[in-house]
Amino acid sequence: MFLAEHGSAAIGFITVQLVKPVSPLLQPMIVGRIGSVAVLERLRGRGVGSTLMKLAEDWARKNGANDMRLTVWAFNEPAVDLYRELGYELRAFEMGKQLTNAGDMPVACSDDRPGSDIRHGRHNR
Ligand SMILES: CC(C)(COP(=O)(O)OP(=O)(O)OC[C@H]1O[C@@H](n2cnc3c(N)ncnc32)[C@H](O)[C@@H]1OP(=O)(O)O)[C@@H](O)C(=O)NCCC(=O)NCCS
Repeated sequence: MFLAEHGSAAIGFITVQLVKPVSPLLQPMIVGRIGSVAVLERLRGRGVGSTLMKLAEDWARKNGANDMRLTVWAFNEPAVDLYRELGYELRAFEMGKQLTNAGDMPVACSDDRPGSDIRHGRHNR
């Protein structure tokens, strides 16, 4: 973690860690993963965030990372803009949807379509 200070007061921080994704499809690699970054609201827009990002990247590089990653909500425009300015690009989408209560879900189905014999989460063979 890196802390940005102004005088003796903390005004921002960033967390970063090294991870080694394991996948039979990918070359072994070391990734610097940004966890959180935040700057005191009244001091935003002055370069503190980008300085913290660069510190995290330098730390990751020095520790063997050859790639950086982070997750950001799509609606967080200030953060997305900052990351883009620093060279980060969109690589993946995480998709989601809200679930209603299970009790509200229709369960009756009696046709021949694949899956029509799945009831209450059990697949009857
Ligand atoms: C995202 C966040 C950390 C950015 O911090 P920041 O200190 O404002 O970042 P910077 O000042 O380096 O950059 C922000 C903008 O200020 C601009 N800027 C940088 N230095 C500047 C300066 N000296 N003068 C004027 N503008 C400047 C940057 O170009 C950037 O502009 P943009 O809006 O075009 O992207 C901050 O908005 C924040 O804490 N948000 C809430 C927490 C959050 O959402 N974190 C991210 C979770 S993924």
